[in-house]
Amino acid sequence: MKSTDKSERVQYINDNLVSQSKLMKEIAEKLDKDEKAIQVAPNEGQILSTLVQLAKPKFLVEIGTLYGYSACWLLRAMGSDSELHTVEHNKDNYKNSEHFLKQHNEAHKVTCYNSSGLDFLNSWPKDKPIDFLFLDADKGGYLNYLNLALPHLSSGAVVVADNSFLFGHVLSDQPPENYSKNTWMKMRELNKTLSGSTGQFFGMMIPTHQGMTVGVKV
Ligand SMILES: C[S@@+](CC[C@H](N)C(=O)[O-])C[C@H]1O[C@@H](n2cnc3c(N)ncnc32)[C@H](O)[C@@H]1O
Repeated sequence: MKSTDKSERVQYINDNLVSQSKLMKEIAEKLDKDEKAIQVAPNEGQILSTLVQLAKPKFLVEIGTLYGYSACWLLRAMGSDSELHTVEHNKDNYKNSEHFLKQHNEAHKVTCYNSSGLDFLNSWPKDKPIDFLFLDADKGGYLNYLNLALPHLSSGAVVVADNSFLFGHVLSDQPPENYSKNTWMKMRELNKTLSGSTGQFFGMMIPTHQGMTVGVKV
């Protein structure tokens, strides 16, 4: 989610180390105009690109396209024969993502789906591995998405979960009073799982403003 972190450190990164493409800027402007600016922040986008550059995935899946802003960061580092499959359940967001991603100079690498993340993963083909999974949709769904994707994840697959501080709620050892207990519980479990508690992943949380947990499938 777009960071509201205006600290000098993040400012330094965004001013000096991150460069958005013209298309990224256009998408961000449209999201601002539509009052839907909940995309990843530029510094988080650059983390996504860096992870893709490291992992060199062939098949990438994103749950939660919005208008395609984070998809542009994934595309930036994807290899020539790689494919991004990104799913969005909101029809209007999906239409905007199609509109913008069609303009990308690597548009042939991305397919947008208008579906729920659950339906999408339930129909993911058995013979196609998932090498990179980016979770950025409904926070209570992340653990379900991970469990559905698990049989498809290749060895060394990278899973990234954005907003994994759950707006600060995961910090509490007790269920928050004014937030979904179920979502709090599931996000805490997801963070532990991706950090290695079950032995299925090796990973850690990157303490971005909203939290970004990264796990590598063992
Ligand atoms: C934080 S935004 C995604 C931002 C995007 N990844 C980016 O950084 O540019 C979350 C998106 O997930 C979508 N979403 C929420 N629940 C969903 C679900 N169950 N299935 C698919 N998409 C969902 C929302 O409509 C919204 O567009």
